[in-house]
Amino acid sequence: QKIYLSDYTPFGYRVEEVHLTFRLAPEATRVLSRIRFAPNPEATDRRFFLHGEQLKLLSARIDGAPITPRFVDGGLEADVPDGPFLWEAEVEIAPAKNTALEGLYMSGGMYCTQCEAEGFRKITYYPDRPDVMATFTVRIESDMPVLLSNGNPLGKGAGWAEWHDPWPKPSYLFALVAGDLVNHADRFTTMEGRDVELNIWVRPGDEGKCAFGMDALKRSMKWDEEVYGRAYDLDIFNIVAVDDFNMGAMENKGLNIFNSSCVLASPETSTDANFERIEAIIAHEYFHNWTGNRITCRDWFQLCLKEGLTVFRDQQFTGDQRSHAVKRIDDVLTLRGRQFREDNGPLAHPVRPESFVEINNFYTATVYEKGAELIGMLKTLVGDAAYKEALDLYFRRHDGQAATIEDWLKVFEDVTGRDLSQFKLWYSQAGTPRLKVEEAFENGTYTLTFTQSTPPTPGQPVKDPKVIPILVGLLDDTGAEIQPTTLLEMTQERQSFCFEGLSARPIPSILRNFSAPVILQRESSNAERAFLLAHDTDPFNKWEAGRALAKDVLTRMICDGAPADPAYLDALQRVARDDSLDPAFRALALRQPSEEDIAQTLFDAGRTPDPARIHDAAETLAQARAEALQDLLPRLYAEMHVPGPYSPDAKAAGKRALQNTVLGLLSRLDSGEAARRQYAAADNMTMQLGALASLLTIERGRAETAAFYDQWKADRLVMDKWFGLQVACAAPEAAAETARALTEHADFDWKNPNRFRAVFGSLATNPAGFHHESGAGYALLADWLIRLDPVNPQTTARMCSAFETWRRYDADRQGLIRAQLERILNQPGLSRDTTEMITRILEG
Ligand code: ARG
Ligand code: ZN
Repeated sequence: QKIYLSDYTPFGYRVEEVHLTFRLAPEATRVLSRIRFAPNPEATDRRFFLHGEQLKLLSARIDGAPITPRFVDGGLEADVPDGPFLWEAEVEIAPAKNTALEGLYMSGGMYCTQCEAEGFRKITYYPDRPDVMATFTVRIESDMPVLLSNGNPLGKGAGWAEWHDPWPKPSYLFALVAGDLVNHADRFTTMEGRDVELNIWVRPGDEGKCAFGMDALKRSMKWDEEVYGRAYDLDIFNIVAVDDFNMGAMENKGLNIFNSSCVLASPETSTDANFERIEAIIAHEYFHNWTGNRITCRDWFQLCLKEGLTVFRDQQFTGDQRSHAVKRIDDVLTLRGRQFREDNGPLAHPVRPESFVEINNFYTATVYEKGAELIGMLKTLVGDAAYKEALDLYFRRHDGQAATIEDWLKVFEDVTGRDLSQFKLWYSQAGTPRLKVEEAFENGTYTLTFTQSTPPTPGQPVKDPKVIPILVGLLDDTGAEIQPTTLLEMTQERQSFCFEGLSARPIPSILRNFSAPVILQRESSNAERAFLLAHDTDPFNKWEAGRALAKDVLTRMICDGAPADPAYLDALQRVARDDSLDPAFRALALRQPSEEDIAQTLFDAGRTPDPARIHDAAETLAQARAEALQDLLPRLYAEMHVPGPYSPDAKAAGKRALQNTVLGLLSRLDSGEAARRQYAAADNMTMQLGALASLLTIERGRAETAAFYDQWKADRLVMDKWFGLQVACAAPEAAAETARALTEHADFDWKNPNRFRAVFGSLATNPAGFHHESGAGYALLADWLIRLDPVNPQTTARMCSAFETWRRYDADRQGLIRAQLERILNQPGLSRDTTEMITRILEG
């Protein structure tokens, strides 16, 4: 059933402290709890309800006396004294049978936990809601050599260990790990002088993949001190790598648990993109210690309070460590590819949703990525100094609390004196605003007139105008900047801004740095786009101009059968050759817009995208690009060569990115000769995988694919790449069959989320393959979602979003997809997670 934000009431009791004892056994773990409750003076409802799911209750006592609780939906109720009391219970659970990977489960022989959002209720009876915060003391009894929980160690002996976490926390931050693990250790001294022991715990054999993660952790700790004034607050910080994990990682207090793909790194097995992602996720989870743990969320509707802010913080960190321009472009690519897609389809929801059936279905691009954009807009609107003051006030005022978006906005209001009630619409109204631009020039005055409108989304037919920060600069026709970046603050539905005293009509650079998550609609010529690509001083808009040019060319190739525009190829050539530009930037500028991006754009312009035609046009354009750059490619390839031992730093990674981009084009001219050479010579995964991808894209590389398997079959994370790449690069008519054949491979461990996603996530992001007119892709994915759902509802539900774009397509494809969605929905016993997703996709 549905839960509503407006129904929030505080829990009737406070928890003063929690003692847990775990007697670990795969099939029958005993969990003993001793919890001190006291009436909550802020609450009126005194019903004593504890969440609990899939638990076998062995005994329950209140103040020492055995009781018989009433079992109700999702937990139990009991009659309790009027004053404070002690609750004691013993339950039995079976971690080895827990394939959903939520609560206490086993992965590769070790015990581990995932409690966010509502997994703690599968461990013991408890008020499993984030506004109930308590200190935890945990005793683990097991013959596993390494026993870990939150907080600081209290003591350990043969077969046991005890931990105490002095910081009150909600149950979703609880964690326990027990296993045969080895650690990569280091230390960090905080700005407050606290000496902290740092560990990354892995399975024996993975010790060599920890050094980079550890370095990233220390840089994150330092950065949060320097930029946000936030120091770490325990004597020990542990990270554990786990192979079976539904998401990326989890910020449990003092004991972060990571999907092994998001922490383990080595030059031989990880790409530059992996290194960068690992650095960002380590930072993200570490930053949660303040934005999430010290200040947590009152209820799950406030999820963006911690996630949006923490994503924003990890984006700032990566920008500081690497390149702000490149990071911003990467982030906007993800935002458009995932969040705009979500916002413009049946799964659209506000950054702060107002209702849900299963909260796990709301760990979305909207909550995370759009949530981060809202923080960025706030910072742009109030300025850097006020942002810093507001954050200081937020930490001072709400430390130790479970807060809301209202609390968050209030600190900005108090610091700046602004009224943020209109800004708050960004949190409550879903959908991507369209921002139309008109221009006029008269008597030296240049006027920009903006009109905003947001299309209806499920449950929200009408939208109000939002506050939109628009960063604008103006150039003259020589390319000189005559108006440096300035902030236009739009609040009305239609609004004009004037620039006076100009001698000629300027060329505008609008929405610099992508200052708001909107779709800009402006009539422009390709000559102007090429001009901005050459001259704009704002790196984001410089890239954006090239992007718009490429999209326009592709759209005309698809819709009018036009040939690839030579003006575009010219502009491309100039960027590729421009040595003053960062290679990473050039790699991004040379990247062709994705087929998904084109489908989105066509649909937005009122057309029905045909994935096959889009694919053909994209291939034709890629070939034309290769031919146009023919003379330059070998030279550029050689110039980007990075000599010496591999280092994952941004500069070297940028060169390799450009080199691999060039290789992709080169392969279209030399039948893969250069790629085969690169493959054979590669001493790191970036170059090895780049070569393999280039070969697979031109339908070659059979021998390399086989060799890659032989070389890497013992490494799970590399094998995920092997599975994924074959599907991602498969030709449209071959994609579904490639995926199906791989599901029959001996190494296809479908219960492992990484492996499942490697195959089916790649199928879903190969649009021409997934949407092949045969419908084979739809049917295959539906078969496997039906199979996975009873085993792992969370991962199944997340993968349903592959179908979220179905209404974009023609009647035949819609019919094929509808049939599969209905087939899934009709499965007896379908999980709540998947039922909610499919229902929303069908009805939205
Ligand atoms: N809080 C984690 C993060 O973003 C995400 C964990 C969510 N897990 C889940 N099953 N919903 O860092
Ligand atoms: Zn997070």
